[in-house]
Amino acid sequence: MSCDFISLATVGVQDLNPYLPGKPPEELERELGLTDVVKLASNENPMGPSENVLTAIKQQLRGLSLYPDSGGYRLKNALSQQFGFSPEQVTLGNGSNDVLELIGRAYLNPNDEVIYSEYSFVVYSLVTQATGAKAVVTPAKDWGHDLDAMLSSITARTRIIFIANPNNPTGTWLTRQQLTEFLDKVPENVLVVLDEAYTEYVKEPEFPNGLSLLADYQNLVVTRTFSKAYGLAGLRVGFSVSNPQVANVLSRVRQPFNVNSLALVAAETALTDQAYLTKALELNQQGMALFEKAFSKLGLAYIPSVGNFITVDVATDAQPIYQAMLEEGVIVRPVANYGMPNHLRISIGLPEENERCLDVLAKVVSN
Ligand SMILES: Cc1ncc(COP(=O)(O)O)c(C=O)c1O
Repeated sequence: MSCDFISLATVGVQDLNPYLPGKPPEELERELGLTDVVKLASNENPMGPSENVLTAIKQQLRGLSLYPDSGGYRLKNALSQQFGFSPEQVTLGNGSNDVLELIGRAYLNPNDEVIYSEYSFVVYSLVTQATGAKAVVTPAKDWGHDLDAMLSSITARTRIIFIANPNNPTGTWLTRQQLTEFLDKVPENVLVVLDEAYTEYVKEPEFPNGLSLLADYQNLVVTRTFSKAYGLAGLRVGFSVSNPQVANVLSRVRQPFNVNSLALVAAETALTDQAYLTKALELNQQGMALFEKAFSKLGLAYIPSVGNFITVDVATDAQPIYQAMLEEGVIVRPVANYGMPNHLRISIGLPEENERCLDVLAKVVSN
Protein backbone atom coordinates (compact mmCIF):
# COMPACT_ATOMS: atom_id res chain seq x y z
CA MET A 1 0.00 0.00 0.00
CA SER A 2 1.65 3.23 -1.04
CA CYS A 3 -0.86 5.51 0.64
CA ASP A 4 -0.89 5.88 4.45
CA PHE A 5 -4.61 5.93 5.15
CA ILE A 6 -4.05 6.59 8.85
CA SER A 7 -2.42 9.92 8.09
CA LEU A 8 -5.40 10.82 5.88
CA ALA A 9 -7.72 10.62 8.91
CA THR A 10 -8.61 13.79 10.79
CA VAL A 11 -5.95 14.92 13.24
CA GLY A 12 -7.83 13.75 16.36
CA VAL A 13 -8.63 10.34 14.89
CA GLN A 14 -5.03 9.64 13.84
CA ASP A 15 -3.95 9.19 17.48
CA LEU A 16 -7.15 7.65 18.78
CA ASN A 17 -7.04 4.26 20.51
CA PRO A 18 -10.41 2.57 20.07
CA TYR A 19 -12.57 1.75 23.11
CA LEU A 20 -11.53 -1.54 24.73
CA PRO A 21 -14.68 -3.47 25.66
CA GLY A 22 -14.81 -6.24 28.27
CA LYS A 23 -13.98 -9.62 26.76
CA PRO A 24 -17.14 -11.35 25.47
CA PRO A 25 -17.76 -14.72 27.22
CA GLU A 26 -18.17 -16.56 23.87
CA GLU A 27 -14.68 -15.43 22.87
CA LEU A 28 -13.13 -16.90 26.02
CA GLU A 29 -15.20 -20.06 25.66
CA ARG A 30 -13.91 -20.45 22.09
CA GLU A 31 -10.32 -19.77 23.11
CA LEU A 32 -10.18 -22.09 26.11
CA GLY A 33 -12.84 -24.66 25.23
CA LEU A 34 -14.81 -23.71 28.36
CA THR A 35 -18.60 -23.78 28.63
CA ASP A 36 -19.39 -21.94 31.84
CA VAL A 37 -17.61 -18.62 31.66
CA VAL A 38 -18.66 -15.90 34.10
CA LYS A 39 -18.39 -12.31 32.87
CA LEU A 40 -18.24 -9.60 35.50
CA ALA A 41 -16.52 -7.04 33.33
CA SER A 42 -18.97 -4.54 31.83
CA ASN A 43 -21.27 -3.51 34.69
CA GLU A 44 -24.32 -5.14 33.14
CA ASN A 45 -27.38 -6.29 35.07
CA PRO A 46 -26.80 -10.00 35.81
CA MET A 47 -30.54 -10.81 36.09
CA GLY A 48 -31.23 -10.66 32.34
CA PRO A 49 -34.10 -8.54 31.04
CA SER A 50 -37.45 -8.55 32.86
CA GLU A 51 -40.29 -10.79 31.71
CA ASN A 52 -42.41 -7.72 30.94
CA VAL A 53 -39.69 -6.40 28.66
CA LEU A 54 -39.39 -9.74 26.88
CA THR A 55 -43.15 -9.82 26.28
CA ALA A 56 -43.13 -6.26 24.91
CA ILE A 57 -40.25 -7.09 22.59
CA LYS A 58 -42.03 -10.19 21.26
CA GLN A 59 -45.08 -8.10 20.46
CA GLN A 60 -42.93 -5.60 18.62
CA LEU A 61 -41.14 -8.17 16.45
CA ARG A 62 -43.73 -8.07 13.69
CA GLY A 63 -42.95 -4.40 13.13
CA LEU A 64 -39.31 -5.08 12.33
CA SER A 65 -39.68 -4.35 8.63
CA LEU A 66 -40.55 -0.74 9.46
CA TYR A 67 -38.20 2.00 10.56
CA PRO A 68 -38.59 2.93 14.22
CA ASP A 69 -40.23 6.16 15.35
CA SER A 70 -37.25 8.44 14.85
CA GLY A 71 -38.62 11.03 17.26
CA GLY A 72 -39.13 8.39 19.98
CA TYR A 73 -42.48 9.98 20.85
CA ARG A 74 -43.70 7.31 23.26
CA LEU A 75 -40.42 6.85 25.12
CA LYS A 76 -39.79 10.58 25.43
CA ASN A 77 -43.28 11.06 26.84
CA ALA A 78 -42.91 8.16 29.25
CA LEU A 79 -39.59 9.58 30.49
CA SER A 80 -41.05 13.05 30.84
CA GLN A 81 -43.98 11.81 32.86
CA GLN A 82 -41.89 9.62 35.09
CA PHE A 83 -39.20 12.18 35.87
CA GLY A 84 -41.00 15.50 35.43
CA PHE A 85 -39.56 17.41 32.47
CA SER A 86 -40.80 18.12 28.97
CA PRO A 87 -40.25 15.82 25.95
CA GLU A 88 -38.45 18.68 24.15
CA GLN A 89 -35.64 18.35 26.68
CA VAL A 90 -34.87 14.71 25.82
CA THR A 91 -32.34 13.36 23.34
CA LEU A 92 -32.45 9.62 22.77
CA GLY A 93 -29.29 7.70 21.97
CA ASN A 94 -28.06 4.31 20.88
CA GLY A 95 -26.81 3.89 24.45
CA SER A 96 -25.79 6.94 26.45
CA ASN A 97 -22.39 6.69 24.73
CA ASP A 98 -24.15 7.81 21.58
CA VAL A 99 -25.46 10.91 23.36
CA LEU A 100 -22.00 11.68 24.81
CA GLU A 101 -20.64 11.52 21.30
CA LEU A 102 -23.42 13.77 19.94
CA ILE A 103 -22.59 16.37 22.57
CA GLY A 104 -18.93 16.36 21.55
CA ARG A 105 -19.73 16.47 17.85
CA ALA A 106 -22.20 19.30 18.24
CA TYR A 107 -20.22 21.50 20.61
CA LEU A 108 -16.49 20.90 20.15
CA ASN A 109 -14.22 22.64 17.68
CA PRO A 110 -10.54 21.75 17.35
CA ASN A 111 -8.57 23.42 20.15
CA ASP A 112 -11.58 23.89 22.42
CA GLU A 113 -10.91 22.53 25.90
CA VAL A 114 -12.74 19.74 27.68
CA ILE A 115 -12.26 19.09 31.38
CA TYR A 116 -12.63 15.69 33.01
CA SER A 117 -11.01 13.92 35.90
CA GLU A 118 -8.25 11.39 36.09
CA TYR A 119 -9.82 7.91 36.45
CA SER A 120 -13.04 8.89 34.72
CA PHE A 121 -15.01 7.07 32.04
CA VAL A 122 -12.81 6.51 28.99
CA VAL A 123 -15.42 7.68 26.48
CA TYR A 124 -14.89 11.32 27.59
CA SER A 125 -11.35 11.19 26.29
CA LEU A 126 -12.41 9.43 23.08
CA VAL A 127 -15.09 12.01 22.34
CA THR A 128 -12.69 14.86 23.07
CA GLN A 129 -9.85 13.51 21.00
CA ALA A 130 -12.00 12.56 18.01
CA THR A 131 -13.07 16.17 17.57
CA GLY A 132 -9.53 17.56 17.85
CA ALA A 133 -10.40 19.32 21.12
CA LYS A 134 -7.89 19.46 23.95
CA ALA A 135 -8.34 17.30 27.03
CA VAL A 136 -7.67 18.97 30.36
CA VAL A 137 -7.43 16.13 32.87
CA THR A 138 -7.60 17.16 36.53
CA PRO A 139 -5.92 14.95 39.16
CA ALA A 140 -8.35 12.84 41.15
CA LYS A 141 -8.93 13.36 44.86
CA ASP A 142 -9.43 10.14 46.85
CA TRP A 143 -10.09 8.39 43.51
CA GLY A 144 -12.99 10.78 42.75
CA HIS A 145 -13.53 14.12 41.04
CA ASP A 146 -11.75 17.14 42.49
CA LEU A 147 -14.32 19.80 41.71
CA ASP A 148 -12.08 22.67 42.86
CA ALA A 149 -9.34 21.51 40.51
CA MET A 150 -11.91 21.39 37.72
CA LEU A 151 -13.08 24.93 38.47
CA SER A 152 -9.54 26.26 38.44
CA SER A 153 -8.95 24.61 35.07
CA ILE A 154 -11.73 26.54 33.33
CA THR A 155 -10.46 28.97 30.70
CA ALA A 156 -12.08 31.01 27.92
CA ARG A 157 -11.66 27.92 25.69
CA THR A 158 -13.49 25.48 27.95
CA ARG A 159 -16.63 24.13 26.27
CA ILE A 160 -17.52 20.98 28.22
CA ILE A 161 -16.90 19.46 31.64
CA PHE A 162 -17.67 15.75 31.95
CA ILE A 163 -18.60 14.42 35.39
CA ALA A 164 -19.79 10.90 36.13
CA ASN A 165 -21.78 10.55 39.33
CA PRO A 166 -21.20 7.85 40.49
CA ASN A 167 -17.91 7.57 38.69
CA ASN A 168 -16.76 4.59 36.63
CA PRO A 169 -14.28 2.88 37.22
CA THR A 170 -13.95 4.01 40.85
CA GLY A 171 -17.55 3.98 42.13
CA THR A 172 -16.95 7.26 43.99
CA TRP A 173 -19.69 9.89 44.23
CA LEU A 174 -20.43 13.57 44.82
CA THR A 175 -23.04 14.95 47.20
CA ARG A 176 -25.78 17.32 46.14
CA GLN A 177 -24.09 20.14 48.02
CA GLN A 178 -20.71 19.53 46.39
CA LEU A 179 -22.32 19.47 42.99
CA THR A 180 -24.49 22.56 43.37
CA GLU A 181 -21.63 24.60 44.85
CA PHE A 182 -19.64 23.61 41.78
CA LEU A 183 -22.44 24.35 39.31
CA ASP A 184 -22.95 27.77 40.90
CA LYS A 185 -19.40 28.68 39.88
CA VAL A 186 -19.26 27.26 36.33
CA PRO A 187 -19.83 29.95 33.65
CA GLU A 188 -23.10 29.45 31.81
CA ASN A 189 -21.40 29.02 28.42
CA VAL A 190 -19.62 25.86 29.65
CA LEU A 191 -21.73 22.72 29.36
CA VAL A 192 -21.58 20.42 32.38
CA VAL A 193 -22.38 16.87 31.28
CA LEU A 194 -23.46 14.94 34.34
CA ASP A 195 -23.29 11.26 33.47
CA GLU A 196 -25.69 9.34 35.72
CA ALA A 197 -25.32 5.88 34.20
CA TYR A 198 -25.37 4.22 37.65
CA THR A 199 -27.69 6.58 39.51
CA GLU A 200 -30.43 4.00 40.16
CA TYR A 201 -28.10 1.95 42.37
CA VAL A 202 -27.29 4.72 44.82
CA LYS A 203 -29.01 4.70 48.20
CA GLU A 204 -27.04 7.51 49.92
CA PRO A 205 -29.41 10.25 51.18
CA GLU A 206 -27.00 13.02 50.13
CA PHE A 207 -26.75 11.70 46.57
CA PRO A 208 -28.20 14.20 44.06
CA ASN A 209 -30.74 13.57 41.34
CA GLY A 210 -29.26 15.54 38.45
CA LEU A 211 -32.66 15.84 36.78
CA SER A 212 -33.91 17.96 39.68
CA LEU A 213 -31.08 20.46 39.07
CA LEU A 214 -31.91 21.12 35.43
CA ALA A 215 -34.33 23.94 36.16
CA ASP A 216 -31.61 25.86 38.01
CA TYR A 217 -28.71 25.30 35.61
CA GLN A 218 -29.31 25.92 31.92
CA ASN A 219 -25.84 24.60 31.02
CA LEU A 220 -26.44 21.21 32.67
CA VAL A 221 -26.91 18.10 30.53
CA VAL A 222 -27.81 14.90 32.40
CA THR A 223 -27.21 11.56 30.69
CA ARG A 224 -28.76 8.26 31.74
CA THR A 225 -28.91 4.75 30.39
CA PHE A 226 -31.05 1.64 30.23
CA SER A 227 -27.89 -0.50 30.06
CA LYS A 228 -27.28 -0.88 33.78
CA ALA A 229 -30.06 -1.20 36.39
CA TYR A 230 -32.76 -1.61 33.70
CA GLY A 231 -30.94 -4.58 32.18
CA LEU A 232 -30.97 -3.58 28.50
CA ALA A 233 -27.27 -3.21 27.61
CA GLY A 234 -27.61 -5.39 24.50
CA LEU A 235 -30.33 -3.22 22.99
CA ARG A 236 -28.39 0.05 23.32
CA VAL A 237 -30.62 2.81 24.60
CA GLY A 238 -29.82 5.86 26.68
CA PHE A 239 -30.82 9.51 26.78
CA SER A 240 -29.93 12.99 27.87
CA VAL A 241 -32.07 15.68 29.40
CA SER A 242 -31.04 19.29 28.90
CA ASN A 243 -32.54 22.66 28.15
CA PRO A 244 -34.60 22.45 24.92
CA GLN A 245 -32.08 24.51 22.95
CA VAL A 246 -29.27 22.06 23.66
CA ALA A 247 -31.61 19.18 22.76
CA ASN A 248 -32.40 20.98 19.51
CA VAL A 249 -28.67 21.25 18.71
CA LEU A 250 -28.13 17.56 19.47
CA SER A 251 -31.03 16.60 17.20
CA ARG A 252 -29.13 18.20 14.30
CA VAL A 253 -26.23 15.73 14.54
CA ARG A 254 -28.23 12.69 15.64
CA GLN A 255 -28.56 9.94 13.04
CA PRO A 256 -32.16 9.40 11.98
CA PHE A 257 -33.57 6.24 13.65
CA ASN A 258 -30.59 5.98 16.04
CA VAL A 259 -32.66 3.99 18.55
CA ASN A 260 -34.18 0.80 17.16
CA SER A 261 -37.81 -0.18 17.58
CA LEU A 262 -37.15 -3.04 20.02
CA ALA A 263 -35.03 -0.78 22.21
CA LEU A 264 -37.74 1.90 22.22
CA VAL A 265 -40.47 -0.47 23.36
CA ALA A 266 -38.18 -2.28 25.81
CA ALA A 267 -37.10 0.96 27.47
CA GLU A 268 -40.66 2.21 27.75
CA THR A 269 -41.68 -1.04 29.42
CA ALA A 270 -38.60 -1.21 31.66
CA LEU A 271 -39.42 2.24 33.06
CA THR A 272 -42.62 0.92 34.57
CA ASP A 273 -41.10 -2.30 35.91
CA GLN A 274 -40.51 -1.19 39.49
CA ALA A 275 -40.40 -4.75 40.88
CA TYR A 276 -37.52 -5.66 38.57
CA LEU A 277 -35.60 -2.54 39.53
CA THR A 278 -36.10 -3.16 43.26
CA LYS A 279 -34.85 -6.73 42.89
CA ALA A 280 -31.82 -5.57 40.89
CA LEU A 281 -30.86 -3.07 43.56
CA GLU A 282 -31.28 -5.61 46.38
CA LEU A 283 -29.16 -8.16 44.55
CA ASN A 284 -26.53 -5.52 43.95
CA GLN A 285 -26.40 -4.51 47.60
CA GLN A 286 -26.04 -8.10 48.75
CA GLY A 287 -23.33 -8.78 46.18
CA MET A 288 -21.48 -5.59 47.09
CA ALA A 289 -21.45 -6.56 50.77
CA LEU A 290 -20.11 -10.00 49.88
CA PHE A 291 -17.23 -8.57 47.81
CA GLU A 292 -16.32 -6.00 50.48
CA LYS A 293 -16.20 -8.67 53.17
CA ALA A 294 -14.19 -11.06 51.01
CA PHE A 295 -11.65 -8.41 49.98
CA SER A 296 -11.11 -7.49 53.64
CA LYS A 297 -10.58 -11.15 54.47
CA LEU A 298 -8.06 -11.45 51.63
CA GLY A 299 -6.31 -8.30 52.86
CA LEU A 300 -7.01 -6.48 49.59
CA ALA A 301 -7.84 -2.77 49.62
CA TYR A 302 -10.85 -1.68 47.58
CA ILE A 303 -12.45 1.61 46.64
CA PRO A 304 -15.86 1.87 48.34
CA SER A 305 -18.41 1.97 45.51
CA VAL A 306 -22.04 3.03 45.18
CA GLY A 307 -22.36 1.56 41.66
CA ASN A 308 -22.87 -2.01 40.47
CA PHE A 309 -19.14 -2.73 40.43
CA ILE A 310 -16.21 -2.56 42.80
CA THR A 311 -12.58 -1.84 42.07
CA VAL A 312 -10.01 -3.75 44.06
CA ASP A 313 -6.29 -3.20 44.54
CA VAL A 314 -4.53 -6.52 44.02
CA ALA A 315 -1.28 -4.99 45.34
CA THR A 316 0.71 -6.10 42.31
CA ASP A 317 0.49 -5.81 38.53
CA ALA A 318 -3.15 -6.78 37.91
CA GLN A 319 -2.58 -8.06 34.36
CA PRO A 320 -1.27 -11.53 35.32
CA ILE A 321 -4.07 -11.86 37.90
CA TYR A 322 -6.61 -10.96 35.21
CA GLN A 323 -5.05 -13.53 32.85
CA ALA A 324 -5.02 -16.26 35.49
CA MET A 325 -8.67 -15.54 36.29
CA LEU A 326 -9.52 -15.76 32.57
CA GLU A 327 -7.96 -19.20 32.46
CA GLU A 328 -10.33 -20.21 35.27
CA GLY A 329 -13.27 -18.90 33.20
CA VAL A 330 -13.86 -15.63 35.07
CA ILE A 331 -13.73 -12.35 33.15
CA VAL A 332 -13.14 -9.19 35.17
CA ARG A 333 -11.88 -5.83 33.97
CA PRO A 334 -8.28 -4.63 34.13
CA VAL A 335 -8.15 -0.84 34.43
CA ALA A 336 -4.51 -0.16 33.51
CA ASN A 337 -5.85 1.92 30.60
CA TYR A 338 -7.34 4.22 33.26
CA GLY A 339 -3.93 4.58 34.93
CA MET A 340 -4.75 1.98 37.59
CA PRO A 341 -2.36 -0.90 36.82
CA ASN A 342 -2.79 -2.65 40.20
CA HIS A 343 -6.58 -2.60 40.21
CA LEU A 344 -9.28 -4.84 38.78
CA ARG A 345 -12.87 -3.69 38.37
CA ILE A 346 -15.44 -6.38 39.11
CA SER A 347 -19.13 -6.05 38.26
CA ILE A 348 -21.55 -7.37 40.86
CA GLY A 349 -23.12 -10.54 39.49
CA LEU A 350 -25.60 -13.18 40.63
CA PRO A 351 -24.74 -14.74 44.03
CA GLU A 352 -23.22 -17.86 42.44
CA GLU A 353 -21.19 -15.75 39.99
CA ASN A 354 -19.86 -13.59 42.82
CA GLU A 355 -18.87 -16.67 44.83
CA ARG A 356 -17.10 -18.22 41.86
CA CYS A 357 -15.26 -14.99 41.10
CA LEU A 358 -14.12 -14.66 44.70
CA ASP A 359 -12.98 -18.30 44.90
CA VAL A 360 -10.93 -17.84 41.74
CA LEU A 361 -9.51 -14.51 42.90
CA ALA A 362 -8.51 -16.02 46.27
CA LYS A 363 -6.82 -18.92 44.52
CA VAL A 364 -5.00 -16.71 42.03
CA VAL A 365 -3.75 -14.09 44.49
CA SER A 366 -2.44 -16.75 46.86
CA ASN A 367 -0.30 -18.34 44.09
C1 LIG B 1 -20.03 6.20 33.42
C2 LIG B 1 -20.62 5.58 32.20
N1 LIG B 1 -21.27 6.35 31.34
C3 LIG B 1 -21.83 5.87 30.23
C4 LIG B 1 -21.74 4.52 29.94
C5 LIG B 1 -22.30 4.09 28.63
O1 LIG B 1 -23.30 3.21 28.71
P1 LIG B 1 -24.31 2.95 27.51
O2 LIG B 1 -23.71 3.48 26.25
O3 LIG B 1 -24.47 1.48 27.49
O4 LIG B 1 -25.55 3.70 27.88
C6 LIG B 1 -21.06 3.66 30.78
C7 LIG B 1 -20.92 2.23 30.45
O5 LIG B 1 -20.21 1.49 31.01
C8 LIG B 1 -20.48 4.21 31.95
O6 LIG B 1 -19.80 3.44 32.79
